[in-house]
Amino acid sequence: MSPVAFAESQANSNIALIKYWGKLDRPGNYPAVPSLSLTLSDLTTTTRVELDARLKADEVHLDGELAAGRTRDRVIRILEHFRHGSGSPHFARVTTNNDFPTAAGLASSASGFAALVTAANAAYATHLSRAELSSLARSASASAARSLFEGWSMLAVGADSAVELAPACHWQLVLLVVVTATGKKSIGSTEAMNLTRETSPFYGTWVEQAPRLFEAGRAAVLERDLPRLGAAMEQSTLMMHATMMSANPAVIYLAPGTLNVLHQVTALRARGLACYYTMDAGPHVKVLCEATTAARIRDELAGVDGVREVILAHPGPAARLRLQT
Ligand code: PMV
Repeated sequence: MSPVAFAESQANSNIALIKYWGKLDRPGNYPAVPSLSLTLSDLTTTTRVELDARLKADEVHLDGELAAGRTRDRVIRILEHFRHGSGSPHFARVTTNNDFPTAAGLASSASGFAALVTAANAAYATHLSRAELSSLARSASASAARSLFEGWSMLAVGADSAVELAPACHWQLVLLVVVTATGKKSIGSTEAMNLTRETSPFYGTWVEQAPRLFEAGRAAVLERDLPRLGAAMEQSTLMMHATMMSANPAVIYLAPGTLNVLHQVTALRARGLACYYTMDAGPHVKVLCEATTAARIRDELAGVDGVREVILAHPGPAARLRLQT
């Protein structure tokens, strides 16, 4: 028997240049600080949602394995929203694959939930707008709200959905994804954020400082001012990591290879190569630079101790539908 309906989508990971870390103290998963990100041309999630009348429950396959626990719960909560909206009685089989390591600090939840809401919206024929899909993605993972949009996007404090700041073509920079370690992260971002809010003595200062960095980053993107964006971006990520490292117990995502890359980026800059770093909830480093110097910087970073791979990514497209019945 063929499925009742199916849809397949793709979404790309986005990397925050001005970081989100911390949730408002109210239900619904709302960010306590504003963030600004770049959706990438690479790091792609492909998701198929198939409604099947024979299913007695939703089935979630992630990278070839049956998902369980919190990942499965978060997917099912999203599917229930679409079932409710469409009036459809059918459960879904969700098959999702990443062309990069999952849950390792490469924003797989961002591309994952953006792809899921895009495919489920088509399979259940709910016709939600991009803003509504962004809001739904945010309820599962706030960074996912930004992957609904191409290029440069932002998510305000307490906002329902992200908005586009500028399209991918606005500024053709390169983001080098410097992979420094393999394996899944030790603590998920939600748990780590809650721990930071509850125990870090620096959390209040982080929340207070974040809007200033956001404004500097936003203006710099609009003016295509790389040194200004780079300065705000490095301060944002270092402040975020300093805050989580001062939680109790400490949250430390940085590995020895991470620090080697940071020092190398600073050294390259001293030699006149404009490049700036950011790190997420994992040991990898993402380096923003001009397209003209990207290959040279990539080669310099590939030789750093602890670096396994350097992926070259450009500003990329919004979450999109590929196939639909
Ligand atoms: O949306 P989450 O829960 O995956 O958190 C993402 C947090 C960071 O990647 C560290 C920062 C960001 O703004 O994406």
